[in-house]
Amino acid sequence: MLNTERLILRAMSSEDLEKRVEWLNNHIVRETLLMRFPISIDETRIWFEKTLSDPSRQDFIIKLKETGEPIGFAGYVGIDWVHRKAEPFIAIGEVEAWGKGYGTEVVHLLLDYGFNELGFNRMYGFMLDNNPGALKMDLKAGFIEEGLLKDDVMIHGEYHDRIMLGVTRKQFNERFNMK
Ligand SMILES: CC(C)(COP(=O)(O)OP(=O)(O)OC[C@H]1O[C@@H](n2cnc3c(N)ncnc32)[C@H](O)[C@@H]1OP(=O)(O)O)[C@@H](O)C(=O)NCCC(=O)NCCS
Repeated sequence: MLNTERLILRAMSSEDLEKRVEWLNNHIVRETLLMRFPISIDETRIWFEKTLSDPSRQDFIIKLKETGEPIGFAGYVGIDWVHRKAEPFIAIGEVEAWGKGYGTEVVHLLLDYGFNELGFNRMYGFMLDNNPGALKMDLKAGFIEEGLLKDDVMIHGEYHDRIMLGVTRKQFNERFNMK
């Protein structure tokens, strides 16, 4: 289990899948992750079985320490052990938990743990231009803007830019005075 001040991240398990489906069937959450279709519990069970043997990703459930309530999920995708890099991801599915700093706490933990425990050298992400809260969260947590991908994706018939975010272990540890 990984810990922040107010949150626990533990490996996702089959008992978490109903919540995952509920959260991803909120179209606001789903669209930020560029997922096109509503999802079912059946396909989610199949997806989850595959993730268990996939070394390129790690999935966590986020729970409040105080109550044990699950509020979202997070993890790493694109884990590349040769080039030592990965893409962290997060979704807080419980909408009433937004704006309380939980997102920043989780992304900061994923960066710190990725760099200083797993030995990644670089982490990166792609932020949609219509998600200012998530961009602010990522910048506060330790990411740096690296570039702009013009008209990178289409959502509801309109092209959107994506902001390229990245940070190296050296940049992160210097900024937050870590090892
Ligand atoms: C993005 C998300 C994880 C942010 O989580 P959160 O816990 O609400 O984030 P935080 O509370 O740490 O907010 C970070 C900052 O962004 C600000 N913010 C949040 N939503 C905002 C919005 N819609 N517009 C502008 N600023 C916003 C917060 O006020 C905070 O700034 P502050 O510390 O100066 O007050 C959450 O909204 C979410 O899960 N959204 C749907 C899925 C998603 O977008 N995932 C990211 C895909 S890359």
